[in-house]
Amino acid sequence: PRTAAVIPAAGRGVRLGPGAPKALRALNGTPMLIHAVRAMAASRAVSLVVVVAPPDGAPEVKTLLADHALPERTDFLVVPGGATRQESVKLGLDALPPGIDIVLVHDAARPLVPVDTVDGVIEAVRDGAPAVVPALPVADTVKEVEPGPPGAPEPVLATPERARLRAVQTPQGFDRATLVRAHEAVVVGEGATDCAGLVERLGEPVVLVAGHEEAFKVTRPLDLVLAEAVLARRRA
Ligand code: CTP
Ligand code: MG
Repeated sequence: PRTAAVIPAAGRGVRLGPGAPKALRALNGTPMLIHAVRAMAASRAVSLVVVVAPPDGAPEVKTLLADHALPERTDFLVVPGGATRQESVKLGLDALPPGIDIVLVHDAARPLVPVDTVDGVIEAVRDGAPAVVPALPVADTVKEVEPGPPGAPEPVLATPERARLRAVQTPQGFDRATLVRAHEAVVVGEGATDCAGLVERLGEPVVLVAGHEEAFKVTRPLDLVLAEAVLARRRA
């Protein structure tokens, strides 16, 4: 089965603070997006990478891909993204050619995911799971609250048992037809924060496999410090 990776990279990166779109910011001199593209292309199973660029940034992203060394066995496509991650992923899916039967969806903001994690997800889809998500146990205890106005104390509603919670990462891997169906079934105003959440709504099974600490998402400024430290350690 042929596998493609869709990389949503169209976000602004509001939580990272002012500057270029998050995916285009440098980590140790190389744009985060290039690290993420290389992480997907590092898997020998991935024959195509579709980058979903900021809505007005597709030409810039095409230039970036042309200017960086990437594996020759992999094809690359760039499409403009949308206003939400979910829309951006949908635009990436729409660009997939026939003949692809497994789709990975990977955040550009997780530039350091190891290839073993990528291969583990692909293998689980090949073994028959329609939706596969890398995940880790959570370190912090998590509270459910009644959200209030910013800054106001928030009443706690419940404390789910931590041992039963997992923090999910990407790449999430899917049987292509299942993922397309999940996106087509979306009801306006009832999106999900990840693709697997859409598949769950179809009633299809979603399974978790081992994630990796280095697949963390670069979200806030401190995450940039951590990402650069991980890269420095890899080069050492
Ligand atoms: N993303 C996207 N299109 C959007 C919004 C997000 O392709 N309209 C992508 C981001 O580029 C990122 C991934 O979805 O690679 C995960 O989103 P997140 O980490 O939330 O990134 P941003 O939305 O850019 O950050 P923020 O929420 O802080 O603005
Ligand atoms: Mg976001």
